[in-house]
Amino acid sequence: MTEQAGFTLWMTGLSGAGKTTIALILEKELKEKRGLKIERLDGDVVRQSLTRDLGFSKEDRDKNIERVAFVAKLLSRNGVGVIASFISPYQSVRDQVRAETTNFIEVFINAPLQVCIERDVKGMYARAMAGEIPNFTGVSDPYEAPENAEIMINSDQETPEDSARRIIRYLEEHHFIPAQ
Ligand code: ADX
Repeated sequence: MTEQAGFTLWMTGLSGAGKTTIALILEKELKEKRGLKIERLDGDVVRQSLTRDLGFSKEDRDKNIERVAFVAKLLSRNGVGVIASFISPYQSVRDQVRAETTNFIEVFINAPLQVCIERDVKGMYARAMAGEIPNFTGVSDPYEAPENAEIMINSDQETPEDSARRIIRYLEEHHFIPAQ
């Protein structure tokens, strides 16, 4: 095949598990190097614009993902590869995204909570554990691990580059992108 199929690569996992890091590597490889049509949607970025009005209650998290799903639906059905990175802690809403979008691929970016706490990239775990951030995923709010993820990444056991390579191989093998 020569045409690119639209897809929705949905990365879910705890804060600090490595979602954004892997998404950036994928974007660079697929968009810059291979010239594919790619849009990256990231929680920290989207929450500054499209979902600026939302917080972190279950209701607001669901609304956040529902709006992103709407955007991903429009893009993926028009041949764009969407790379989404959101904690998206609830299975039910991830299943909604699956039902709504084209070629949905759930990717579980998994790292033990203790590893995320030790990384504490943004310093938020320390603040959450000190009680300064309520409803913090993994600390004082639930995270429902995916039950049927297409791809499982153990980010404490391989490099982000290796994870990205595995994801790209999956996309090629399923003919979502042209093989190289
Ligand atoms: S989601 O749960 O609605 O999918 P999303 O991925 O958009 O979350 O945003 C998560 C980011 O918001 C985290 O990476 C972190 O920087 C920030 N954040 C702020 N407050 C919280 C909180 N209570 N729980 C989780 N992340 C939070």
